[in-house]
Amino acid sequence: MSEATTVERAAPAHGREAYFSVRNVHAYYGESYIVQGVSFDVAENEIVALLGRNGAGKTSTLRTIARTDDPALMQGEIWLAGTAIHPMKAFEAARQGIQLVPEDRRIIPGLTVEENLVLSQVAKPIGWPLERIYGHFPRLAERRTQEAVTLSGGEQQMLAVARALARDIKLLLLDEPYEGLAPTIVREIEKILVEVKELGITTIIVEQNAIAALQLADRALILDMGEIVFDGTAKEVLEDADLRHRYLAI
Ligand SMILES: Nc1ncnc2c1ncn2[C@@H]1O[C@H](COP(=O)(O)OP(=O)(O)OP(=O)(O)O)[C@@H](O)[C@H]1O
Ligand SMILES: [Mg+2]
Repeated sequence: MSEATTVERAAPAHGREAYFSVRNVHAYYGESYIVQGVSFDVAENEIVALLGRNGAGKTSTLRTIARTDDPALMQGEIWLAGTAIHPMKAFEAARQGIQLVPEDRRIIPGLTVEENLVLSQVAKPIGWPLERIYGHFPRLAERRTQEAVTLSGGEQQMLAVARALARDIKLLLLDEPYEGLAPTIVREIEKILVEVKELGITTIIVEQNAIAALQLADRALILDMGEIVFDGTAKEVLEDADLRHRYLAI
């Protein structure tokens, strides 16, 4: 057993500042206490897989980080590159470079692929120009005049990631990006996420397809009932069948 396998709890707050840090965060939907004292650090340029069973609080944690109103953050701190995110509203967090790609991908009906991309660039900070995006996403380039809701699931996920890159982001939060996609398409999205990492962007990925997420990720966090129960490397989770059975049911 590797020594870090024994660290099945949130890493303690260190004096040294992490690039992205979530400190003792508590969040509620009305009276429902859902995110129950979550703490973790993410290094710059890391890919972290945030895993856990259905209802563990993964989406709620991402939404709290993105500073959506629901769930409401009632206690704790969130820091990105030395900036306090916890006092912010969602639009301000977005302006700081936090980009949530929700499970439903939020493709805007009635708009073409290109119009969806252009719309991401109406507000600053602007990221990649369209031509650069199309260079990385040739499938989107071919379909730039197609109505975006008619794209396949995989293409819609590509568009969701592309829209994130159309903004100048620091932290990409992906909620179930592989959901409903065939394995070959999952591999295409993975390749794009590796490219996103090469650009220096930091990513937190939530996935039911834990094995795929772990193969991509540097580190893993496991949530259970609104608390972090494991914080370690992706490799440790891949190699620890007991841990996976206990918290991921795989
Ligand atoms: N809008 C809401 N109002 C009240 N409770 C909610 C709301 N959204 C989620 N919850 C509850 O919060 C808990 C955590 O939900 P969350 O969606 O964060 O889990 P998850 O880990 O993303 O699950 P899944 O894997 O099914 O997507 C669940 O018990 C859920 O019922
Ligand atoms: Mg969820």
